[in-house]
Amino acid sequence: MNPLLNFFLLIIIASLAIPSLSIAPFAPTRKKDLKRIHTIMNLKKWQKVLEIGFWDARVSSYLAKNNKESDFIWIELSPILFIIAKINLFFSHTKNLKLKLKNAFKEDFKSYDYIYIFWMPDVLKNKLKEKFIKEMKPWAKIISYSFDIEWWPWKKIKDKPSPEFLSIYIMTKE
Ligand SMILES: C[S@@+](CC[C@H](N)C(=O)[O-])C[C@H]1O[C@@H](n2cnc3c(N)ncnc32)[C@H](O)[C@@H]1O
Repeated sequence: MNPLLNFFLLIIIASLAIPSLSIAPFAPTRKKDLKRIHTIMNLKKWQKVLEIGFWDARVSSYLAKNNKESDFIWIELSPILFIIAKINLFFSHTKNLKLKLKNAFKEDFKSYDYIYIFWMPDVLKNKLKEKFIKEMKPWAKIISYSFDIEWWPWKKIKDKPSPEFLSIYIMTKE
């Protein structure tokens, strides 16, 4: 095979594989759950939301379109997924969304009212527990899709309307 093609393939594979080693497997939130997430969050116009890892950016896109006066920040580690999301955003003309190509461990969580995650709890515990506890505002909430964060020291509510739905956990510092 052409060495240049090999090189580009290697870059693409690395760009997709490194983030999956970091915090989560490659899988997006189910589309059928977007409305439920929106209802659970019940966003106010001044609130600021962080989604860590955006896959095809479906969660933030949906929320941003339905909450035009809230602000949304997406952070993604994979350059390939970032470029795809950037192109989507350009065509969607969504003004209240910003993308960052960044490692979540380097983001300051202080300014957010909601942090949306779809991560494995063990990875969170090892790498982000102290950061969440130290930086999150007292009234901020973590929305964890599918995974229960058992180590969470404060209040936690589980939403699972029926067995065929995945759980959504809402965690606060109360
Ligand atoms: C399970 S997917 C969830 C995607 C999206 N939030 C959703 O729910 O549809 C996890 C995402 O996190 C990204 N990711 C992994 N490690 C990361 C890190 N350290 N910082 C930012 N994003 C990361 C992956 O590239 C992937 O897009």
